[in-house]
Amino acid sequence: MAFFTSATQTIPLAGEIPKHIAVIMDGNGRWARKRFLPRIAGHKRGVETVRDLVKSCINLKVEYLTLFAFSSENWRRPTEEVSFLMGLFMQALKREVAKLHQNNIKLVMIGDRSRFDAELIAQIEVSELLTAKNTGLVLSIAANYGGRWDVLQAVNKMQLAAPQLVGFYSEDHLTPYLSMSYAPEPDLFIRTGGEKRISNFLLWQLAYTELYFTDTLWPDFNQEAFNSAISSYQKRERRFGRTSEQLSVPPIDAEI
Ligand code: IPE
Ligand code: IPE
Ligand code: MG
Repeated sequence: MAFFTSATQTIPLAGEIPKHIAVIMDGNGRWARKRFLPRIAGHKRGVETVRDLVKSCINLKVEYLTLFAFSSENWRRPTEEVSFLMGLFMQALKREVAKLHQNNIKLVMIGDRSRFDAELIAQIEVSELLTAKNTGLVLSIAANYGGRWDVLQAVNKMQLAAPQLVGFYSEDHLTPYLSMSYAPEPDLFIRTGGEKRISNFLLWQLAYTELYFTDTLWPDFNQEAFNSAISSYQKRERRFGRTSEQLSVPPIDAEI
């Protein structure tokens, strides 16, 4: 498996399409409430937005798309909503996996899956296995995922693998054990639904990601809304601690 150097070491060119986009898909409940519908209607509608966003990412040649589908804190929701979400997840996997495969998409689930039903775990495994060798878009779904959980599980694995190094671990020792070690750190983070917080998403990996928040509710996040996020990203200057002047002097990927 290839491991990526921290994004904080190299500077992507300005105006590029982000290689990796991470999204908090928020606002389904409010979308439904506005229409006097039950919250679950918003979740159902949200799946369609996912489908369209995947297509847009393929068109733009985005390489990695990571979606926050269920946080480790979402278990605190009413039982009926949690079971609906689990059912929807199962249904979406079953229905979409063949299409994902046809489109050369590689599906990866990140998060602690041990809390899911055996049937759902099996479906996740089958879906990952079917698409494992695909070379197109890498679609990662974060389910029962928490950024703190991720860092902690990585620390535990790192320590088991190299107990002799306790007290001397570096970032390079830790990062191979993070759930997203197969991907570069996100270039662009999008959160819909108006809240301006990270909600325990990719805490480690978002260190230098460009953040984009929009009031648009997830089911309304259409192609135009996505294009606005991309063009906002393209106008940013990513400095990673350096000065603006330094960026215009090649080579831009020079060491620290
Ligand atoms: C996001 O929408 C979907 C999940 C967390 C699964 P919400 O359900 O949080 O919608 P709001 O924030 O209540 O509108
Ligand atoms: C974050 O949304 C998690 C997902 C989108 C899956 P929430 O709506 O649960 O976030 P908080 O708890 O309000 O911050
Ligand atoms: Mg929410």
